[in-house]
Amino acid sequence: MWRSLRKDGSADKMSALPEAAEEWHMRATVVGAGHVGATTAEYLLREGLADVYLVDVAEGLAEGKALDMAQAAPVLGHSCRVSGGTDYGPAEGSDLVVITAGIARKPGMSRDDLLKVNGGIMAQVARDIWRACPEAVVIVVSNPLDVTTHIFHETSGFPTQRVLGMAGVLDTARFRTFIAWEVGCSPEDVSAMVLGGHGDSMVPLPSQASISGVPLTQFLDDDAIARLVQRTRDGGAEIVGLLKTASAFYAPAAATCQMASAILRDEKRILPVCAYVNGQYDLHNLFLGVPAKLGRRGVEEVVVIDLSADDLEALHKSAEHVRSSIEAWNAMKGAS
Ligand code: LAC
Repeated sequence: MWRSLRKDGSADKMSALPEAAEEWHMRATVVGAGHVGATTAEYLLREGLADVYLVDVAEGLAEGKALDMAQAAPVLGHSCRVSGGTDYGPAEGSDLVVITAGIARKPGMSRDDLLKVNGGIMAQVARDIWRACPEAVVIVVSNPLDVTTHIFHETSGFPTQRVLGMAGVLDTARFRTFIAWEVGCSPEDVSAMVLGGHGDSMVPLPSQASISGVPLTQFLDDDAIARLVQRTRDGGAEIVGLLKTASAFYAPAAATCQMASAILRDEKRILPVCAYVNGQYDLHNLFLGVPAKLGRRGVEEVVVIDLSADDLEALHKSAEHVRSSIEAWNAMKGAS
């Protein structure tokens, strides 16, 4: 039995990991060993952020990928441990859980088309995670993101502060990339923000975008900006259209890893994430993409920024869309 010392000095166990591991690492469980889950696990390990337990219902999938990742460690040069399996026992004591379980969309499908299947999967995962590691901070990644985050919260006993969804960082990364390509500068120098639901109603905010502190409007005209905003909204579908049998995973995993780092390292980063709002932006009792401060306790604050009347209206429209998807989910639940 592998034992380690926790921060508070107490011992606990993670039997799936080898005997020799004595030093203390953070622990993350990644649910779903598909493209997004496995790539997230790999990024977490490469960043040295946490020991990772990868779990998937498909026999052998998580175990096999974890074994493969473990054997990459000597070459990549990190000391994080990784294991995989089909049961939630080894998730016990996790500091962070990332949920990627569910099916991905095919060309022509919207994220909402995934609701019935992925909603059911999320409810089951929520019960399993609540039993295994009720102290964790949970990042939901499965689509349709804002509704699955809601389902995870309503099905488990987690407080809203420790439940958040990944999408804003991804949508913002796409927006930053497209801006950088158009202007011909490094994407690192582009700062931007995309709020709202992770879907067609998302709200890219060109008025908040800048390049090394200089407003975007000094580089691009309205037509160009409108084109980049639309490409950002369609960013996920563009990749599904090319891949045909999968959706994006490198950028989603990178975005998840940035959020994981902010949480596990208590960085207090302000990032656009799907967080619980109740009063902020005049929105109530809803998980939606807003800027939030992330630290060891999860969402430590929803940050309220000044939005123009048009942007605020777009955010409210997006919230209405998420609410109608939640109603659709409630009807599906009632019917089954
Ligand atoms: C995307 C999927 C992961 O936006 O929602 O690529």
